[in-house]
Amino acid sequence: MAQNSSNTPDQSKVMEKIVSLAKRRGFIFQSSEIYGGLNGCWDYGPLGVEMLNNVKQQWWKNMTFRENVEGLDASILMHPRVWEASGHVENFTDPMVDCKQCKARYRVDILFDELSLKKKKELLRELEPGKFEGQQKDETIIAEFATKSNTDEFAAKALRILTCPSCGNKGSFTDARKFNLMFKTFVGPVEDSSNVVYLRPETAQGIFVNFLNVQSASRQKIPFGIAQIGKAFRNEINTKNFLFRTREFEQMEMQFFVKPGTDDQHFEYWRAQRMEWFVNLGMRKEKLQWHQHPKDKLAHYAKDAYDIEYEFPFGWGEIEGVHNRTDYDLSRHEQFSGKTMKYFEEESKDRYTPFVIETSAGASRSFMAFLVDSYREEEAPTAEGGSEIRTVLKLHHTLAPTKIAIFPLVNRDGMPEISRNIEADLRKNFRVFYDDSGAVGRRYRRQDEVGTPFCVTVDSETLQNQTVTVRDRDSMQQERIAIQRLREYFAAKSL
Ligand code: GAP
Repeated sequence: MAQNSSNTPDQSKVMEKIVSLAKRRGFIFQSSEIYGGLNGCWDYGPLGVEMLNNVKQQWWKNMTFRENVEGLDASILMHPRVWEASGHVENFTDPMVDCKQCKARYRVDILFDELSLKKKKELLRELEPGKFEGQQKDETIIAEFATKSNTDEFAAKALRILTCPSCGNKGSFTDARKFNLMFKTFVGPVEDSSNVVYLRPETAQGIFVNFLNVQSASRQKIPFGIAQIGKAFRNEINTKNFLFRTREFEQMEMQFFVKPGTDDQHFEYWRAQRMEWFVNLGMRKEKLQWHQHPKDKLAHYAKDAYDIEYEFPFGWGEIEGVHNRTDYDLSRHEQFSGKTMKYFEEESKDRYTPFVIETSAGASRSFMAFLVDSYREEEAPTAEGGSEIRTVLKLHHTLAPTKIAIFPLVNRDGMPEISRNIEADLRKNFRVFYDDSGAVGRRYRRQDEVGTPFCVTVDSETLQNQTVTVRDRDSMQQERIAIQRLREYFAAKSL
């Protein structure tokens, strides 16, 4: 499994190297690349789609193999009233500004966040004369600036004197405007306002509106959960950092319905479960942290909210949210649809609207975190007795896109035939790869680079005693295994 013993590559270059490896080896391609690409959209290549499916499968099993979690696959297009009830039509907005000179568009909060400490100090001093003249600590300046820039009045004044990061013009920003992040389209041939529908910006609402369908069909009792994996779409103003913030992405969401009053205990349970999921799949603990949303910044529906953050080469970023959404969503759907969303508890004869504990992970962001976390550059011996730097993805075995590579040492003496037989046999159970080109050392490196946990080599000893070498990606140790034991050997490796 993924080890933490190797060299940490230079963080400033690491993202560039991963993006380049991802393209070269067929994990991720830019969408519509031959037309210059489409901002915020990416395609998963042959290895990428395998790995993404593995991430989703691990999540799906972890959720729906439980007695009290059911699966669902709701449609992307939903009745437009869903998004009025959920608050997305009104609240799913980002404040944005345009530069009147160069037309660059910015999210106001990000524009402020990315200012240097020096600039933040200058703005505070200029806009709040007298208050920030002394020697305040850096943390005080950062905290004060975050609070002030959240107020409309300060933000408006700051925007009037800020310099546009792309063209360098001062005072060239428009006033901040609210920009709704939902993509709109139309159902049917007539493109008018009565036919507007939205591409869902989260999968959660498909779960809420199906709460009683799932509950009665599966005869679940509260507490129970509904899990779903699916695409979500957000017209993000600033897409950035590879797969981190994209316009089309996948979510893995689970809504756990509980009796009001028991919500805090379920919230803590799911927090622990979700952090454990990442760690059990090999993610380094020290690269993960919790971020609790401050009470004054909680989403309109939340009682409490924590993010699981991963330390990417560009800084800490949220990969999953665990939220106590109260009874907000079910109550709103009851109000907007006129249909009851209440649960009847047989034992107590109570009828109530459940509270919801939500675990909401990005499949695409988790994929990227697993990819980044597994990336290592480390010293490895060469056949000539020297050493070289090898690039290796120390992916958890279950996430690796290819599980076993099979090599004939040379393309003669019957070695290719034996190798092909082994390949055909292992292919029944595992995703394997056959490679007979180049020196065996190079073949190992090619597999290390895409995280293949094991390489099987057929050599001259095989011809004598029907054994092969099996090389472990992480330790680089080789052991001899009888061909007839290979299937059983790999079956024990939880691939
Ligand atoms: N239902 C709650 C919800 O959607 P969120 O914090 O907006 O909450 C949950 O999103 C997760 O979805 C995030 O933690 C992130 O992993 C992923 N996500 C959100 N926006 C994304 C984007 N633009 N690109 C990629 N992933 C995104």
